[in-house]
Amino acid sequence: AQRPIVIQGAMPVEVDQLIRGLEKVKKEKYGSFVFYKGEINRYPVIVSKTGKGMENAAAATAIALVKYHPIAIINQGTSGGHVPDIHVFDIVVGKRVTNIGSFKTEIRGKNQGIAPTTWMPMDLTASEESEEEVKAGPIRYFEGDKALLAEAMKIRDQYHKGKVVEGTIGSADVWNNEVDRINWLNSLFGTSVEEMEAASAAQVAESFQVPFLGIRIVTNNIVNGEKYNPDTETAGQSYVYKLVKTYIYNL
Ligand code: 5AD
Repeated sequence: AQRPIVIQGAMPVEVDQLIRGLEKVKKEKYGSFVFYKGEINRYPVIVSKTGKGMENAAAATAIALVKYHPIAIINQGTSGGHVPDIHVFDIVVGKRVTNIGSFKTEIRGKNQGIAPTTWMPMDLTASEESEEEVKAGPIRYFEGDKALLAEAMKIRDQYHKGKVVEGTIGSADVWNNEVDRINWLNSLFGTSVEEMEAASAAQVAESFQVPFLGIRIVTNNIVNGEKYNPDTETAGQSYVYKLVKTYIYNL
């Protein structure tokens, strides 16, 4: 049998349109994790509604990997800009994704306060190390699959609502609205956008050595003051749908 492509989205508004693009849809549920099994151009495609945040994304990815043996996983949805020149409606194709919520702090005693900008990124995949050995950096990046990345960039002329750029997607169970903190995260991780799922899905996909791509439409950007625009949700899904179609065509 052909191995399916899995497309993930956290919220109903991030998957609804993709589900409508499937033929012969069957719904399957494991716990709270819903999978819409269907076809695009007679190729098996599964849309996974993961729920929000790192834990839900990781669990949904593990279930998808074990139950469906996908040929590739695409994690897509909304995001917030981390730099002023990335605008609402722009699409960031994840050259790499990284966890921007995993840190080890410096040692500070009682009344020595808290100093978030001194926190050091902690690689959660370095599981062979003991606690003592956990050190600052190097930052753990999960690379986007080369073929999917190339395909996503190749179709960029077909998108007219903004620009399509390669970038770094940062994920954490945090919605950052502090511009100074965003600037600090950007200088540390080189993030183009933030959201709450891609890095955890990438981490689990990598442990199964399954090709992965994160792709995010910018829906808000506090750095340049651009407000949340819900019309971005369908624009992002349309782009991912086109990407999956061309990817299937070239398989
Ligand atoms: N920061 C964090 N998450 C965001 N999302 C959209 N914009 C942002 C942002 N600026 C997405 C997350 C999550 C939901 C809250 O919206 O991926 O699924």
